[in-house]
Amino acid sequence: MTGVATNRTLARVSDAPSSTLRASVLRGLRAGVKTISPALFYDAEGARLFEEICCLPEYYPTRTEHAILARHAAELATHAGAGCALIEYGSGAGVKVRFLLDRLERPVAYVPVDISREQLLDVSRERARQYPGLRILPVHADYTAAFELPTLPPGARRVAFFPGSTIGNFHPAEAAAFLRRVRHVVGREGGLILGVDRRKDPRLLHAAYNDSAGVTAAFNRNLLTRLNREFGGEFNVDNFRHRAFFDDAASRIEMHLEALVAHEVCMDGEVIRFALGETIHTECSYKFDRPRLEALAESSGFRIEALYSDERDWFWEAWLVPA
Ligand SMILES: C[S@@+](CC[C@H](N)C(=O)[O-])C[C@H]1O[C@@H](n2cnc3c(N)ncnc32)[C@H](O)[C@@H]1O
Repeated sequence: MTGVATNRTLARVSDAPSSTLRASVLRGLRAGVKTISPALFYDAEGARLFEEICCLPEYYPTRTEHAILARHAAELATHAGAGCALIEYGSGAGVKVRFLLDRLERPVAYVPVDISREQLLDVSRERARQYPGLRILPVHADYTAAFELPTLPPGARRVAFFPGSTIGNFHPAEAAAFLRRVRHVVGREGGLILGVDRRKDPRLLHAAYNDSAGVTAAFNRNLLTRLNREFGGEFNVDNFRHRAFFDDAASRIEMHLEALVAHEVCMDGEVIRFALGETIHTECSYKFDRPRLEALAESSGFRIEALYSDERDWFWEAWLVPA
């Protein structure tokens, strides 16, 4: 069978927010430091805004990773080997995977995994059209928890792909736990192609998350619009501004929504109080140096077999294998 197999795999995550998700949103907003999971960024509008961010002049990661993939796709394909099943976590617009699909030798399946359902479906259809012999098995799931994979051709080597430096959105212990699950999925013979954003001049980092066109701000504030639409929130979005900064000691960008006035917001029947200047922490984006990446690989049962970078040493595409 070729083309897109959808009926079973796409039923994984329902479109209506579950009571667990509602409860976790409220828990985050009740906490001393208010937080919302970055997974909630990606409703249809969030996915669209993220694609816009990827094209911004200040947002170097996408362009830089494309350049690395364009240059080293053949070597990555050699690492992956012939006849592999490629599993992409957080497939998004599914652009980067094309560098690999164009080079892989006789891949037997492509399994895009994403929480953003419409984009997942669109990308799956489009890739099925572009790669007619390839089995496309989309999975609509939240990858922060274990999820069921579709049946893959027996004996196919499993290669995971996690680009975009999305690994940086996890705190270190969560990143290790996530990669341990990936390690379990790919098994002893598998591998992982991991996109990693490197530490660099904080001014470049600051600009990338505070673009002059305000698209990252719109992406961040869209979370509140989503909370209003899907989670019974009554936020006045104009009462919040986007704030992003680099914390050097923690080696991470932090994104927040900062209250411009002291006020109260009703959320699913509960009153949430905001002091002037209080923030909701919406995203972390950890930046890596070699020791940090090695520590992560080691703590998750992988080792780094090859690292590919760009000419400015801003980003890595890493090939990891089970340790
Ligand atoms: C930063 S974007 C990267 C997209 C693409 N891989 C790239 O490199 O350009 C993160 C992607 O992961 C998806 N995503 C974020 N959190 C997720 C989660 N918990 N489970 C599944 N997908 C998630 C988003 O919907 C989005 O498509």
